[in-house]
Amino acid sequence: MAKIITFGIQKGGSSKTTTSGVVAYLLSEEYRVLAVDMDSQGNLTELLTQQDIYDFQGVTVFEALKAQDAREYIHKITDKLHILAANDLLATFSKWLYNGGYHGNPSLVLAETLATVADQYDYIIVDTPPALGEQTINALAASDHVVAMFEASKFCYTALSRFLETCVHVQQLPEVNMEIVGILRGMIDSRRTDNKALLQIVGDEYGDLCFDTILTRTAAAGRISINGFLDNPELNVAVTQYRDFLKELIERVNK
Ligand SMILES: Nc1ncnc2c1ncn2[C@@H]1O[C@H](COP(=O)(O)OP(=O)(O)OP(=O)(O)O)[C@@H](O)[C@H]1O
Ligand SMILES: [Mg+2]
Repeated sequence: MAKIITFGIQKGGSSKTTTSGVVAYLLSEEYRVLAVDMDSQGNLTELLTQQDIYDFQGVTVFEALKAQDAREYIHKITDKLHILAANDLLATFSKWLYNGGYHGNPSLVLAETLATVADQYDYIIVDTPPALGEQTINALAASDHVVAMFEASKFCYTALSRFLETCVHVQQLPEVNMEIVGILRGMIDSRRTDNKALLQIVGDEYGDLCFDTILTRTAAAGRISINGFLDNPELNVAVTQYRDFLKELIERVNK
């Protein structure tokens, strides 16, 4: 059965999509991976497929959620890397949920949907939007493990404690068996002393919950959004620091 890992934080621009995309890609070098885009921006879809998100119109994660069955909505990127894509229409997920679209627990639709394909993958990697709405709650509730993303800003610092509290609330839902696997500190600009100070504060406050790996801002990592994975001459340089994180992540989720 797949291990389901979600990357989240409600603060925008904290490298959720880049990190979940790189992790999905690197895992697929060895394992069968399903990437799930739960953000109506469709950034993970665009990043991993390098296609226009409207190419997937009518065959997205939203249709899978509506059917509570993922099987007919999965796209193959490579043999081992598949995706449930997203586009703007996913923004109407809450409207669908509360207008009688679903009669079960509204937080558990994604869990039910992914259960239909979990035996076909080793890892399912879920990217979430910058908000604590239904898409994020569904992702947290479907997960075995959650990575809280922290980019070194004051707003992300205040978001972090509220994100972790939200995870604790979700853990109390019936049938949820999710752990917060760690806080990943990233997007660090090593020249900025305020970045270093915030890193230190989060390290002191959350201790061992923080991964040892700290990801820095690099031009090559930023350009993955432009060049993608399959035809990117600087990919090795761009993903080097993510390999250290992945090693730690795999150790923690298999403990
Ligand atoms: N390590 C990095 N180095 C340099 N740039 C990065 C790095 N990680 C992400 N970026 C860039 O920073 C921007 C925000 O990253 P990303 O889209 O991954 O964040 P996000 O948390 O998913 O944002 P949103 O909250 O909008 O979903 C993007 O332009 C991305 O290319
Ligand atoms: Mg994103």
